Amino acid sequence: MAEKETDALTGTETTGHEWDGIRELNTPLPRWWLWVLYATIIWSIGYMIAYPAWPSLSGYTKGLLGYSSRANLVADLEAVRESRSVWVDKFSELEVGEIVEDPDLLQFAMAGGGFIFGENCAPCHGSGGAGAPSFPVLADDDWIWGGTLEDIHTTIAYGIRSDHDETRYSEMMAFGADELLEPAQISAVADYVLSLSGSGAANEEGAEIFEEQCAACHGEDGKGLPEVGGPNLSDDIWLYGGTKDAIVAQITKPRHGVMPAWVDRLNDATIKQVTIYVHSLGGGQ
Ligand code: HEC
Ligand code: HEC
Repeated sequence: MAEKETDALTGTETTGHEWDGIRELNTPLPRWWLWVLYATIIWSIGYMIAYPAWPSLSGYTKGLLGYSSRANLVADLEAVRESRSVWVDKFSELEVGEIVEDPDLLQFAMAGGGFIFGENCAPCHGSGGAGAPSFPVLADDDWIWGGTLEDIHTTIAYGIRSDHDETRYSEMMAFGADELLEPAQISAVADYVLSLSGSGAANEEGAEIFEEQCAACHGEDGKGLPEVGGPNLSDDIWLYGGTKDAIVAQITKPRHGVMPAWVDRLNDATIKQVTIYVHSLGGGQ
């Protein structure tokens, strides 16, 4: 160890350390740096007093401010629940027809409804209600079971041919499989059905059969009867296809589409939201 001495070149004292003739200058820490260090030490002590900091045998020091991220989270969740329950209460009290007249409620229904539709309905009805073979388009103004808010609400709540007691229900009979009509008659009435949407020539015999056998559910002019779920056959919108083969197949041995009931799966407010969303998609009546 060398003597402490003053370095001739810089005028600074050395620390007295020396390695192979190289000596270390005793340069003090910059003053600003020291002040920052002291300030952080004071800050940390204050922080430890104010906030939870040290573990103890039975828990931890709570700090003077009583801060707890868990308590904050619980309070936040409670606030969200409360602000939501205001909406949910209103949705339960009001009919769908009343909800759409309140701009705030309508907005809330549309925002929630789109999400609910994507989660529960889009797998069958396509995104935005675009439809798919056997699954009706919900974004047009062609409604099998009616397109008013109340009609749509009933359809969604109880379903169509679902397992719910209050389901919408009607079944077209199997005119071919049960031999109610001869194959030639089926062909004739299928031609008549095609002519309703302008895709075939008029068929006299078919028109008579239609009047007797089909009009009760599809209407005199084939424009549909929502009360019994008989689709409009004159608009060239088809659930099961608009070719002659598809129509003959439906008359021979009809398919009976099933739409699940949602009352037991979604709560009242949710069903009302998605009803309003579906009604808005393009064809609400
Ligand atoms: C498992 C498939 C499936 C799911 C999921 C489904 N639907 Fe349906 N839905 C159908 C079928 C099939 C029909 C047509 C029934 C028929 O043949 O009359 C239908 C019919 C409807 C109709 C009546 C259309 C009309 O023209 O009258 C509405 C409205 C409707 N669905 C809304 C919904 C909503 C809203 C949801 C989600 C909460 C939903 N559906 C979920 C299969 C489904
Ligand atoms: C008891 C009522 C009832 C009678 C009678 C009836 N239908 Fe239907 N028909 C329906 C229902 C309900 C549907 C819809 C089936 C579904 O949604 O799955 C339907 C569907 C159809 C479809 C398919 C429509 C599409 O969009 O794909 C055709 C075609 C049709 N019927 C033709 C006839 C003809 C022709 C007759 C007479 C020979 C007839 N129906 C008699 C109730 C009836």
